[in-house]
Amino acid sequence: MNVFVAGGAGFIGSHLIDHLLAEGHTVLCADKLVMGGQNIEHLRDNSAFSFCETELAEQDAVDRIFAENKIDAVYHLAANSDIQKGGREPSIDFNDTLLTTRAILEGMRKADVKKLFFASTSAVYGEMPDTALTETTGGIMPVSYYGGAKLASEALISSYVSMCDMSAVIFRFPNVIGPRLTHGAVFDFIRKLRKNPAELEILGNGKQCKPYIYVLDLVDAIVKMTREFAAGENVYNISVMSDGTTVTHIAEIVVEELGLQNVAFRYTGGDRGWKGDVPRFEYDISKILATGWRPQYTSDEAVRQTVKDAVKAGM
Ligand SMILES: NC(=O)c1ccc[n+]([C@@H]2O[C@H](COP(=O)([O-])OP(=O)(O)OC[C@H]3O[C@@H](n4cnc5c(N)ncnc54)[C@H](O)[C@@H]3O)[C@@H](O)[C@H]2O)c1
Repeated sequence: MNVFVAGGAGFIGSHLIDHLLAEGHTVLCADKLVMGGQNIEHLRDNSAFSFCETELAEQDAVDRIFAENKIDAVYHLAANSDIQKGGREPSIDFNDTLLTTRAILEGMRKADVKKLFFASTSAVYGEMPDTALTETTGGIMPVSYYGGAKLASEALISSYVSMCDMSAVIFRFPNVIGPRLTHGAVFDFIRKLRKNPAELEILGNGKQCKPYIYVLDLVDAIVKMTREFAAGENVYNISVMSDGTTVTHIAEIVVEELGLQNVAFRYTGGDRGWKGDVPRFEYDISKILATGWRPQYTSDEAVRQTVKDAVKAGM
């Protein structure tokens, strides 16, 4: 297929592109390079890959991409991934997370492109700590602008599936980690400990507990769903087989993997890292497991491997 990966220069998108190319697809990536272009640098000479630096919230720019390229399927990963930054300035989430979705759906409608894969998030559920969340859990109320923009995106996608006979696979990712990571607790802890190996500031009380999936497990699921594409609208929670891991335990793994000792943990206090953070959630992933997909890593293994990856990459 000829595929279009929106936000493909980012952490997850760039891994997805590597795997889509390995599957024999031709990939067009568009991105405004918020994080820089280093993740796709290695693809520069690959004749099956092309890149277009674009603001994907701009309808004209997106329409041009669809008009100038034959596209069979779209992977929409463009979004603001810095939830705290979006918390300080909601227009970032509005532009990068919601308006990109609107522009891409409109571009698809005008060009009659029918297949969409969408990177959604556990943040759409808001805070439901005592519920094993399934894809049909109702009454969901996001608590961050980011979660709100993703849920609004999902709602738009649903309407386009119905109105334009499109098909969409929506993945609600948990925390995703692995090589090329640029944000989140694992990344922050490594960075802080490189600056000060004696003390580590931990946001909240450290008891926040969430699942962490290794990026290659996640990409494996997306590629599998590409091979076995089903028409209509399909929503999947995607996560690890094990329970989540606490922020304090992440800190312990990072300290151990960096070979440090006697690091003092200093908690900023409160039950969450920042306003809009969801301190704990639990996913029911039976729907995606029924497809035959299995993740290789538990949360703890994913954290440990991510620290190893970061050290190997010179962080
Ligand atoms: N990383 C996670 O833990 C996680 C968890 C849940 C969902 N997700 C979702 O997965 C997707 C990928 O996340 P990631 O961690 O790779 O983030 P990332 O920030 O590394 O990648 C996102 C990419 O989108 C691009 N982008 C953002 N706004 C754009 C715009 N207006 N126009 C053009 N390009 C734009 C950025 O330049 C960046 O390269 C996002 O949609 C994110 O919301 C990520």
